[in-house]
Amino acid sequence: MNYFNYQGNELYCEDVPVARIAEEVGTPLYVYSASTIERHYRVFSEAFSEVDHLVCFSAKSNSNLAVLKLLGSMGAGADIVSGGELYRALQAGIPPDRIVFSGVGKRDDEIRYALDTGILMFNIESSEELQSVQGIAREMDLKAPIAVRVNPDVDPKTHPYISTGLEKNKFGVPVTEALTLYRQAADMPNLDVVGIDCHIGSQLTSVHPFGEAVRRIMDLVGRLEAEGISVRYVDVGGGLGIVYNNESPPLPSTYAETILEAVGGGERTLIFEPGRVIVGNAGVLVARVLYNKKGATKNFVIVDAAMNDLIRPSLYDAYQEIKPVTKTDREAIVVDVVGPVCESADFLARDHLLPRLGSGELLAVMSAGAYGFPMASQYNSRPRCAEVMVRDSRFEVVRDRETYQDLIRGERFFEG
Ligand code: LLP
Repeated sequence: MNYFNYQGNELYCEDVPVARIAEEVGTPLYVYSASTIERHYRVFSEAFSEVDHLVCFSAKSNSNLAVLKLLGSMGAGADIVSGGELYRALQAGIPPDRIVFSGVGKRDDEIRYALDTGILMFNIESSEELQSVQGIAREMDLKAPIAVRVNPDVDPKTHPYISTGLEKNKFGVPVTEALTLYRQAADMPNLDVVGIDCHIGSQLTSVHPFGEAVRRIMDLVGRLEAEGISVRYVDVGGGLGIVYNNESPPLPSTYAETILEAVGGGERTLIFEPGRVIVGNAGVLVARVLYNKKGATKNFVIVDAAMNDLIRPSLYDAYQEIKPVTKTDREAIVVDVVGPVCESADFLARDHLLPRLGSGELLAVMSAGAYGFPMASQYNSRPRCAEVMVRDSRFEVVRDRETYQDLIRGERFFEG
Protein backbone atom coordinates (compact mmCIF):
# COMPACT_ATOMS: atom_id res chain seq x y z
CA MET A 1 0.00 0.00 0.00
CA ASN A 2 1.36 3.39 -0.93
CA TYR A 3 0.17 6.89 -1.61
CA PHE A 4 0.73 7.11 -5.37
CA ASN A 5 -2.72 6.91 -6.93
CA TYR A 6 -4.71 8.40 -9.76
CA GLN A 7 -7.36 10.94 -8.92
CA GLY A 8 -9.32 11.22 -12.12
CA ASN A 9 -6.66 11.09 -14.83
CA GLU A 10 -3.89 12.59 -12.74
CA LEU A 11 -1.26 10.68 -10.80
CA TYR A 12 -0.99 12.03 -7.28
CA CYS A 13 1.57 11.62 -4.57
CA GLU A 14 -0.58 11.87 -1.46
CA ASP A 15 -2.69 15.00 -2.13
CA VAL A 16 -0.38 16.61 -4.64
CA PRO A 17 -0.58 16.09 -8.41
CA VAL A 18 2.80 14.78 -9.58
CA ALA A 19 2.54 17.05 -12.62
CA ARG A 20 2.42 20.11 -10.38
CA ILE A 21 5.66 19.12 -8.67
CA ALA A 22 7.31 18.47 -12.03
CA GLU A 23 6.13 21.87 -13.26
CA GLU A 24 7.66 23.65 -10.30
CA VAL A 25 10.81 21.63 -9.76
CA GLY A 26 11.56 20.44 -13.28
CA THR A 27 12.46 16.93 -14.42
CA PRO A 28 13.91 14.43 -13.92
CA LEU A 29 13.13 14.25 -10.24
CA TYR A 30 12.47 11.80 -7.44
CA VAL A 31 9.27 12.20 -5.46
CA TYR A 32 8.93 10.52 -2.06
CA SER A 33 5.81 10.10 0.02
CA ALA A 34 6.45 10.71 3.71
CA SER A 35 3.21 8.97 4.73
CA THR A 36 4.21 5.84 2.82
CA ILE A 37 7.62 5.72 4.48
CA GLU A 38 6.00 6.15 7.88
CA ARG A 39 3.39 3.51 7.21
CA HIS A 40 5.96 0.99 6.01
CA TYR A 41 8.19 1.63 8.99
CA ARG A 42 5.30 1.29 11.39
CA VAL A 43 3.99 -1.92 9.87
CA PHE A 44 7.47 -3.44 9.92
CA SER A 45 8.26 -2.42 13.48
CA GLU A 46 4.83 -3.36 14.83
CA ALA A 47 5.22 -6.85 13.42
CA PHE A 48 7.88 -7.31 16.10
CA SER A 49 6.11 -5.43 18.88
CA GLU A 50 6.08 -8.47 21.15
CA VAL A 51 9.88 -8.57 21.35
CA ASP A 52 12.64 -6.15 22.17
CA HIS A 53 13.90 -4.94 18.79
CA LEU A 54 15.57 -2.14 16.87
CA VAL A 55 14.93 -1.34 13.22
CA CYS A 56 18.15 0.00 11.70
CA PHE A 57 17.06 1.42 8.36
CA SER A 58 19.57 0.47 5.67
CA ALA A 59 20.88 3.90 4.70
CA LYS A 60 22.25 2.71 1.37
CA SER A 61 18.74 2.21 0.03
CA ASN A 62 17.92 5.90 0.40
CA SER A 63 20.32 8.14 2.25
CA ASN A 64 18.61 11.49 1.71
CA LEU A 65 18.76 13.44 4.97
CA ALA A 66 15.01 14.05 4.98
CA VAL A 67 14.33 10.32 4.70
CA LEU A 68 16.83 9.47 7.44
CA LYS A 69 15.46 12.21 9.67
CA LEU A 70 11.87 11.07 9.21
CA LEU A 71 12.74 7.50 10.11
CA GLY A 72 15.05 8.52 12.95
CA SER A 73 12.29 10.59 14.49
CA MET A 74 10.06 7.51 14.48
CA GLY A 75 12.66 5.57 16.45
CA ALA A 76 14.62 3.95 13.66
CA GLY A 77 18.35 3.45 13.82
CA ALA A 78 20.61 3.07 10.80
CA ASP A 79 22.55 0.31 9.14
CA ILE A 80 25.58 1.98 7.60
CA VAL A 81 28.43 0.75 5.41
CA SER A 82 30.74 3.74 5.22
CA GLY A 83 31.98 6.83 6.99
CA GLY A 84 29.82 8.84 4.61
CA GLU A 85 26.69 7.03 5.67
CA LEU A 86 27.67 7.47 9.32
CA TYR A 87 28.03 11.20 8.69
CA ARG A 88 24.61 11.35 7.04
CA ALA A 89 22.93 9.36 9.81
CA LEU A 90 24.41 11.65 12.46
CA GLN A 91 23.50 14.77 10.50
CA ALA A 92 19.94 13.47 10.36
CA GLY A 93 19.94 13.18 14.16
CA ILE A 94 20.01 9.39 14.44
CA PRO A 95 21.56 8.59 17.82
CA PRO A 96 24.87 6.69 17.57
CA ASP A 97 23.62 3.98 19.89
CA ARG A 98 21.12 3.03 17.18
CA ILE A 99 23.75 2.63 14.44
CA VAL A 100 25.26 -0.63 13.23
CA PHE A 101 28.22 -0.66 10.86
CA SER A 102 28.36 -3.45 8.24
CA GLY A 103 30.55 -3.95 5.17
CA VAL A 104 33.56 -6.01 4.14
CA GLY A 105 35.97 -3.13 3.65
CA LYS A 106 35.95 -0.73 6.58
CA ARG A 107 38.96 1.63 6.46
CA ASP A 108 40.91 2.59 9.58
CA ASP A 109 39.63 6.16 9.47
CA GLU A 110 36.05 4.90 9.22
CA ILE A 111 36.56 2.54 12.15
CA ARG A 112 38.07 5.39 14.17
CA TYR A 113 35.18 7.69 13.28
CA ALA A 114 32.62 5.09 14.33
CA LEU A 115 34.46 4.33 17.57
CA ASP A 116 34.74 7.99 18.34
CA THR A 117 31.02 8.42 17.73
CA GLY A 118 30.08 5.48 19.92
CA ILE A 119 27.98 3.33 17.60
CA LEU A 120 25.98 0.33 18.78
CA MET A 121 28.13 -2.30 17.06
CA PHE A 122 30.48 -3.24 14.26
CA ASN A 123 29.44 -6.18 12.16
CA ILE A 124 32.83 -7.76 11.58
CA GLU A 125 33.29 -9.52 8.27
CA SER A 126 36.79 -11.03 8.48
CA SER A 127 39.59 -12.03 10.77
CA GLU A 128 41.79 -9.17 9.57
CA GLU A 129 39.04 -6.67 10.24
CA LEU A 130 38.71 -8.04 13.77
CA GLN A 131 42.42 -7.33 14.32
CA SER A 132 42.07 -3.83 12.89
CA VAL A 133 39.17 -2.93 15.14
CA GLN A 134 40.98 -4.33 18.17
CA GLY A 135 44.13 -2.35 17.27
CA ILE A 136 42.32 0.94 16.74
CA ALA A 137 40.19 0.50 19.86
CA ARG A 138 43.39 -0.09 21.85
CA GLU A 139 44.98 3.08 20.47
CA MET A 140 41.84 4.97 21.45
CA ASP A 141 41.75 3.24 24.81
CA LEU A 142 38.21 2.00 24.56
CA LYS A 143 36.22 -1.13 23.92
CA ALA A 144 34.65 -1.73 20.54
CA PRO A 145 31.26 -3.46 20.58
CA ILE A 146 31.26 -6.16 17.92
CA ALA A 147 29.16 -8.81 16.23
CA VAL A 148 30.47 -11.26 13.67
CA ARG A 149 28.64 -11.30 10.37
CA VAL A 150 28.06 -14.94 9.67
CA ASN A 151 27.61 -16.19 6.15
CA PRO A 152 25.04 -18.95 6.69
CA ASP A 153 25.35 -20.32 3.13
CA VAL A 154 21.66 -20.06 2.34
CA ASP A 155 20.39 -19.42 -1.17
CA PRO A 156 18.15 -16.34 -1.09
CA LYS A 157 16.89 -17.10 -4.64
CA THR A 158 17.26 -13.54 -5.78
CA HIS A 159 19.32 -11.81 -8.46
CA PRO A 160 22.96 -13.03 -8.21
CA TYR A 161 24.26 -9.46 -7.89
CA ILE A 162 22.25 -8.90 -4.74
CA SER A 163 22.60 -12.28 -3.08
CA THR A 164 25.09 -12.11 -0.22
CA GLY A 165 24.69 -15.16 1.99
CA LEU A 166 26.18 -17.86 -0.20
CA GLU A 167 29.59 -19.45 0.41
CA LYS A 168 30.88 -17.96 -2.83
CA ASN A 169 29.90 -14.39 -1.83
CA LYS A 170 32.46 -12.02 -0.30
CA PHE A 171 30.25 -11.26 2.70
CA GLY A 172 30.54 -12.51 6.26
CA VAL A 173 32.47 -15.52 7.49
CA PRO A 174 31.46 -19.18 7.35
CA VAL A 175 29.87 -20.62 10.50
CA THR A 176 32.91 -22.67 11.46
CA GLU A 177 35.30 -19.74 11.09
CA ALA A 178 32.88 -17.53 13.01
CA LEU A 179 33.30 -19.75 16.04
CA THR A 180 37.07 -19.20 15.88
CA LEU A 181 36.62 -15.45 15.45
CA TYR A 182 34.33 -15.27 18.45
CA ARG A 183 36.84 -17.13 20.59
CA GLN A 184 39.59 -14.74 19.48
CA ALA A 185 37.38 -11.71 20.02
CA ALA A 186 36.43 -12.84 23.51
CA ASP A 187 40.14 -12.83 24.39
CA MET A 188 40.88 -9.41 22.92
CA PRO A 189 40.99 -6.74 25.61
CA ASN A 190 39.53 -3.93 23.54
CA LEU A 191 36.62 -5.81 22.06
CA ASP A 192 33.25 -6.39 23.60
CA VAL A 193 31.30 -9.23 21.99
CA VAL A 194 27.71 -8.04 21.94
CA GLY A 195 26.03 -9.60 18.94
CA ILE A 196 25.73 -11.85 15.95
CA ASP A 197 24.71 -10.80 12.46
CA CYS A 198 23.74 -12.11 9.07
CA HIS A 199 22.29 -10.66 5.90
CA ILE A 200 21.65 -13.04 3.04
CA GLY A 201 20.50 -10.86 0.18
CA SER A 202 17.99 -8.36 -1.07
CA GLN A 203 14.54 -8.48 -2.70
CA LEU A 204 13.70 -11.89 -1.20
CA THR A 205 10.20 -13.04 -2.03
CA SER A 206 10.08 -16.11 0.17
CA VAL A 207 10.47 -16.41 3.94
CA HIS A 208 12.17 -19.80 3.90
CA PRO A 209 15.74 -18.59 3.32
CA PHE A 210 15.33 -16.12 6.19
CA GLY A 211 14.14 -18.87 8.51
CA GLU A 212 16.99 -21.15 7.49
CA ALA A 213 19.63 -18.45 7.92
CA VAL A 214 18.38 -17.45 11.34
CA ARG A 215 18.20 -21.06 12.51
CA ARG A 216 21.84 -21.48 11.49
CA ILE A 217 23.02 -18.42 13.35
CA MET A 218 20.95 -19.31 16.43
CA ASP A 219 22.60 -22.69 16.42
CA LEU A 220 25.92 -20.88 16.58
CA VAL A 221 24.62 -18.66 19.40
CA GLY A 222 23.86 -21.81 21.35
CA ARG A 223 27.41 -23.07 20.83
CA LEU A 224 28.86 -19.71 21.84
CA GLU A 225 26.81 -19.54 24.99
CA ALA A 226 27.91 -23.02 25.92
CA GLU A 227 31.45 -21.62 25.88
CA GLY A 228 30.49 -18.63 28.00
CA ILE A 229 30.35 -16.12 25.14
CA SER A 230 27.03 -14.37 25.40
CA VAL A 231 25.27 -12.53 22.65
CA ARG A 232 22.82 -9.74 23.37
CA TYR A 233 21.91 -8.59 19.87
CA VAL A 234 20.76 -10.81 17.06
CA ASP A 235 20.92 -8.84 13.82
CA VAL A 236 19.12 -10.64 11.02
CA GLY A 237 19.89 -8.07 8.33
CA GLY A 238 17.44 -6.80 5.73
CA GLY A 239 16.28 -8.19 2.42
CA LEU A 240 12.50 -8.39 2.51
CA GLY A 241 11.27 -7.92 -1.06
CA ILE A 242 8.60 -5.64 -2.49
CA VAL A 243 6.19 -5.73 -5.42
CA TYR A 244 7.72 -4.30 -8.59
CA ASN A 245 5.63 -6.31 -11.00
CA ASN A 246 3.90 -9.55 -10.14
CA GLU A 247 6.00 -10.76 -7.22
CA SER A 248 4.22 -11.78 -4.04
CA PRO A 249 6.64 -11.08 -1.22
CA PRO A 250 5.69 -12.12 2.30
CA LEU A 251 3.89 -9.60 4.49
CA PRO A 252 5.95 -8.19 7.34
CA SER A 253 3.71 -10.16 9.72
CA THR A 254 4.58 -13.44 7.97
CA TYR A 255 8.24 -12.48 7.90
CA ALA A 256 8.02 -11.72 11.62
CA GLU A 257 6.45 -15.11 12.39
CA THR A 258 9.27 -16.86 10.55
CA ILE A 259 12.00 -14.87 12.23
CA LEU A 260 10.52 -15.15 15.71
CA GLU A 261 10.05 -18.87 15.37
CA ALA A 262 13.63 -19.30 14.17
CA VAL A 263 15.00 -17.15 17.00
CA GLY A 264 13.01 -19.20 19.48
CA GLY A 265 12.59 -16.78 22.37
CA GLY A 266 15.22 -15.59 24.81
CA GLU A 267 16.04 -12.22 26.25
CA ARG A 268 17.93 -10.89 23.29
CA THR A 269 17.28 -7.74 21.29
CA LEU A 270 16.56 -8.34 17.63
CA ILE A 271 18.03 -5.96 15.08
CA PHE A 272 16.70 -5.55 11.54
CA GLU A 273 18.27 -3.74 8.62
CA PRO A 274 15.42 -3.25 6.15
CA GLY A 275 15.87 -0.82 3.29
CA ARG A 276 13.80 -1.57 0.22
CA VAL A 277 10.66 -2.65 2.10
CA ILE A 278 10.52 0.72 3.87
CA VAL A 279 11.26 3.09 0.98
CA GLY A 280 11.02 1.14 -2.29
CA ASN A 281 7.38 1.81 -2.99
CA ALA A 282 7.52 5.23 -1.35
CA GLY A 283 9.21 6.91 -4.31
CA VAL A 284 8.89 7.46 -8.04
CA LEU A 285 11.20 8.89 -10.64
CA VAL A 286 9.43 11.44 -12.82
CA ALA A 287 10.67 12.06 -16.35
CA ARG A 288 9.52 14.05 -19.32
CA VAL A 289 9.26 12.67 -22.85
CA LEU A 290 11.73 14.33 -25.21
CA TYR A 291 11.13 12.44 -28.43
CA ASN A 292 9.51 9.42 -29.94
CA LYS A 293 11.65 7.53 -32.37
CA LYS A 294 10.86 4.54 -34.51
CA GLY A 295 13.81 2.21 -34.94
CA ALA A 296 13.94 -0.63 -37.46
CA THR A 297 12.49 -3.08 -34.96
CA LYS A 298 11.58 -1.04 -31.92
CA ASN A 299 9.69 2.01 -30.78
CA PHE A 300 11.76 4.21 -28.54
CA VAL A 301 10.40 6.76 -26.12
CA ILE A 302 13.32 9.00 -25.29
CA VAL A 303 12.95 10.68 -21.90
CA ASP A 304 15.04 13.11 -19.88
CA ALA A 305 15.89 10.58 -17.14
CA ALA A 306 18.59 8.02 -17.77
CA MET A 307 20.67 5.23 -16.31
CA ASN A 308 22.66 7.81 -14.37
CA ASP A 309 19.45 8.68 -12.50
CA LEU A 310 18.17 5.13 -12.04
CA ILE A 311 20.55 2.30 -12.83
CA ARG A 312 18.51 -0.69 -11.65
CA PRO A 313 17.05 -1.60 -15.06
CA SER A 314 20.49 -1.41 -16.73
CA LEU A 315 22.44 -3.13 -13.97
CA TYR A 316 20.08 -5.92 -12.95
CA ASP A 317 17.68 -5.94 -15.85
CA ALA A 318 15.22 -4.96 -13.13
CA TYR A 319 11.61 -4.38 -14.05
CA GLN A 320 10.07 -1.14 -12.87
CA GLU A 321 6.52 -0.22 -13.78
CA ILE A 322 6.09 2.92 -15.85
CA LYS A 323 2.89 4.96 -15.72
CA PRO A 324 1.81 8.07 -17.56
CA VAL A 325 1.47 10.96 -15.12
CA THR A 326 -1.69 11.96 -16.93
CA LYS A 327 -3.79 9.01 -18.02
CA THR A 328 -4.81 8.96 -21.63
CA ASP A 329 -7.03 6.73 -23.72
CA ARG A 330 -4.60 6.75 -26.63
CA GLU A 331 -3.68 3.28 -27.85
CA ALA A 332 -0.98 1.43 -25.97
CA ILE A 333 2.09 0.33 -27.89
CA VAL A 334 5.16 -1.67 -26.96
CA VAL A 335 8.11 0.62 -26.39
CA ASP A 336 11.59 0.85 -24.95
CA VAL A 337 11.83 3.80 -22.59
CA VAL A 338 15.36 5.09 -22.91
CA GLY A 339 17.45 8.02 -21.72
CA PRO A 340 19.92 10.35 -23.43
CA VAL A 341 23.04 8.53 -22.15
CA CYS A 342 25.34 7.11 -24.79
CA GLU A 343 25.08 3.44 -23.87
CA SER A 344 22.74 0.79 -25.21
CA ALA A 345 22.28 -0.28 -21.59
CA ASP A 346 20.64 3.07 -20.96
CA PHE A 347 17.02 2.05 -20.65
CA LEU A 348 14.41 2.42 -17.95
CA ALA A 349 12.15 -0.21 -19.48
CA ARG A 350 12.23 -2.57 -22.43
CA ASP A 351 9.27 -3.92 -24.35
CA HIS A 352 6.91 -2.06 -22.08
CA LEU A 353 3.27 -1.54 -23.00
CA LEU A 354 2.60 2.17 -22.67
CA PRO A 355 -0.01 4.50 -24.17
CA ARG A 356 1.43 6.76 -26.84
CA LEU A 357 2.98 9.76 -25.10
CA GLY A 358 4.02 12.85 -26.98
CA SER A 359 6.94 15.15 -26.44
CA GLY A 360 6.59 17.13 -23.21
CA GLU A 361 4.35 14.60 -21.48
CA LEU A 362 5.34 13.13 -18.14
CA LEU A 363 5.80 9.59 -16.99
CA ALA A 364 6.58 8.06 -13.62
CA VAL A 365 8.91 5.16 -13.01
CA MET A 366 7.30 3.44 -10.04
CA SER A 367 8.92 1.74 -7.02
CA ALA A 368 12.00 3.92 -7.34
CA GLY A 369 12.37 4.95 -3.70
CA ALA A 370 15.06 2.37 -2.91
CA TYR A 371 18.42 2.19 -4.69
CA GLY A 372 17.36 4.98 -7.02
CA PHE A 373 18.98 8.27 -6.14
CA PRO A 374 21.77 6.76 -3.97
CA MET A 375 23.07 4.89 -7.02
CA ALA A 376 22.81 7.94 -9.27
CA SER A 377 25.92 9.31 -10.93
CA GLN A 378 26.89 12.23 -13.10
CA TYR A 379 27.81 10.03 -16.06
CA ASN A 380 27.72 11.96 -19.33
CA SER A 381 28.11 15.06 -17.15
CA ARG A 382 24.48 15.01 -16.23
CA PRO A 383 23.83 16.88 -12.98
CA ARG A 384 22.09 14.61 -10.49
CA CYS A 385 18.39 15.31 -10.26
CA ALA A 386 16.27 16.86 -7.52
CA GLU A 387 14.50 15.00 -4.74
CA VAL A 388 11.16 16.07 -3.31
CA MET A 389 9.28 14.92 -0.22
CA VAL A 390 5.50 15.11 -0.03
CA ARG A 391 3.19 14.96 2.94
CA ASP A 392 -0.55 15.44 2.49
CA SER A 393 -0.91 18.52 0.30
CA ARG A 394 2.58 19.93 0.87
CA PHE A 395 5.83 19.24 -0.87
CA GLU A 396 9.41 20.41 -0.40
CA VAL A 397 12.61 19.98 -2.34
CA VAL A 398 14.84 17.90 -0.06
CA ARG A 399 17.79 17.93 -2.46
CA ASP A 400 18.39 20.57 -5.06
CA ARG A 401 18.98 19.61 -8.63
CA GLU A 402 22.72 19.83 -9.23
CA THR A 403 24.06 22.61 -11.42
CA TYR A 404 26.83 22.66 -14.00
CA GLN A 405 29.03 24.27 -11.31
CA ASP A 406 28.37 21.23 -9.11
CA LEU A 407 29.71 19.06 -11.91
CA ILE A 408 33.17 20.61 -11.74
CA ARG A 409 33.28 21.28 -8.01
CA GLY A 410 36.75 20.49 -6.69
CA GLU A 411 38.33 20.12 -10.12
CA ARG A 412 41.25 22.26 -11.20
CA PHE A 413 43.63 22.63 -14.11
CA PHE A 414 46.92 20.79 -13.97
CA GLU A 415 49.64 23.33 -13.33
CA GLY A 416 52.41 20.84 -14.27
N1 LLP B 1 21.98 -4.94 5.37
C1 LLP B 1 23.05 -5.16 4.61
C2 LLP B 1 24.30 -5.58 5.23
C3 LLP B 1 22.97 -4.98 3.21
O1 LLP B 1 24.03 -5.20 2.46
C4 LLP B 1 21.74 -4.56 2.63
C5 LLP B 1 21.62 -4.36 1.19
C6 LLP B 1 20.65 -4.32 3.48
C7 LLP B 1 20.81 -4.54 4.85
C8 LLP B 1 19.33 -3.83 2.98
O2 LLP B 1 18.71 -4.75 2.14
P1 LLP B 1 17.19 -4.51 1.66
O3 LLP B 1 16.31 -4.59 2.88
O4 LLP B 1 17.12 -3.17 1.06
O5 LLP B 1 16.95 -5.59 0.71
N2 LLP B 1 21.17 -2.11 -5.40
C9 LLP B 1 20.42 -3.34 -5.33
C10 LLP B 1 20.26 -3.81 -3.90
C11 LLP B 1 21.56 -3.98 -3.19
C12 LLP B 1 21.39 -4.41 -1.76
C13 LLP B 1 22.66 -4.30 -1.01
N3 LLP B 1 22.56 -4.60 0.37
C14 LLP B 1 19.09 -3.14 -6.02
O6 LLP B 1 18.84 -2.03 -6.53
O7 LLP B 1 18.28 -4.05 -6.14
